[in-house]
Amino acid sequence: SAIEAKKPKLPETNIHVGGSRTLSVKCEKYDRPFPYFRKPTETGRFSQDHERNFHHDRRQLRYYIKPTKSDPCFDLRQGYTSRIRKDESVKEYLDDMLRWVMMNKEKFMLQSDKNQLDAKEGIDSLHTDFVCWRGLLTRLMCTPYENKDDWKIAVTKFRGTYFLCEFETERKKQREEQMTQQQDEMSYWGWKFEQYVTADKPNGRPDTDRPVNNNEGFCSVVRSRLHSHSLVFGGEVDGVDSSIPGDNKYLELKTSRIMQARRQEQNFRRFKLIKWWAQSFLLGITKIIAGFRDDDGIVHSLEEYQTQKIPSLTKDIHNPWQPNVCFNFLEQVLGFIKETVTTDDPKMVHLLTWSPGKDLECRCLGRDSSYVFLPDWFLHWEGW
Ligand code: A3P
Ligand code: MG
Ligand code: MG
Repeated sequence: SAIEAKKPKLPETNIHVGGSRTLSVKCEKYDRPFPYFRKPTETGRFSQDHERNFHHDRRQLRYYIKPTKSDPCFDLRQGYTSRIRKDESVKEYLDDMLRWVMMNKEKFMLQSDKNQLDAKEGIDSLHTDFVCWRGLLTRLMCTPYENKDDWKIAVTKFRGTYFLCEFETERKKQREEQMTQQQDEMSYWGWKFEQYVTADKPNGRPDTDRPVNNNEGFCSVVRSRLHSHSLVFGGEVDGVDSSIPGDNKYLELKTSRIMQARRQEQNFRRFKLIKWWAQSFLLGITKIIAGFRDDDGIVHSLEEYQTQKIPSLTKDIHNPWQPNVCFNFLEQVLGFIKETVTTDDPKMVHLLTWSPGKDLECRCLGRDSSYVFLPDWFLHWEGW
């Protein structure tokens, strides 16, 4: 069970001319006991099909099929030229999460309202502090230890709920444009690995002849609470494995390069495991299966990780990342957002930005900036 921490106090925030405020990202400031984090429980799910269309069902859920050989020799290069690529130029914002919210109004109603027979009445609010994607929370949690990727998050308060939406940074766009053929091929390998170890039915046969299409996805939507912040967020799930004990039978699949030198092993623990841990922990996923590949994209071994045990694997590295720091930082960022963004207006955006070596900054963009992300069909929902 989670540990109830003393009421965390907010580190000093500085008011800047121009209305922007900052929050420190220094690890030392967040090295306090783990804050209360309620075990995430699944409240819903949805699928995205081969054309990225939303479906309020499990049609894209995959089932884990354990390989029979200890060296499976999966060739992740297979099928690269016939892959079907998700169009990354189409911005998805929070749209599929909002679609899910609209189809699950009753999950946001107070018990007292549900008891009333006139549940046809609109709801005033979602009775939830934050709605976002899991990936955004992963990114926030890992920030105290991040030294490469900057980020940019738009915040809008609407009907009492803070909606958070990540935008691509200039640096990320440049990196994407400069991506070599080799790098692009390697970013396909993770998807191909998923195909080798999953099927569309339990005990089915993986079909590795079909082109890989990364439009397809299955998302789990969870409810949780971090200290005083209630959260509803969705995240992609790679598959289900009925042999996993407990009520969450989802698993996360990963690939990584086979490690030889001690240095590689340390970098893996310092920079990769933190992300694997944060991503899975947030959805309550207890098991991660990693395929270790060589430079030619051949997977030679599989390794299972218990999400819960990952933090202990950093013991032998100098100055390791700490899960309590990640969660205290996330808790403080959410509190900082609540303090800074007070105007309830769907056309108003505050931009939260961070880049390596800097403090986190929150700037008010006012109304009708290019970052407005809540669509009119959500604002004018008949459920309100
Ligand atoms: P790996 O996980 O093996 O790296 P996820 O692991 O989150 O389920 O994502 C599945 C795959 O999508 C990844 O496989 C990787 O190939 C690709 N992918 C995910 N995030 C990416 C990113 N930021 N840039 C490039 N590729 C990414
Ligand atoms: Mg995935
Ligand atoms: Mg994965």
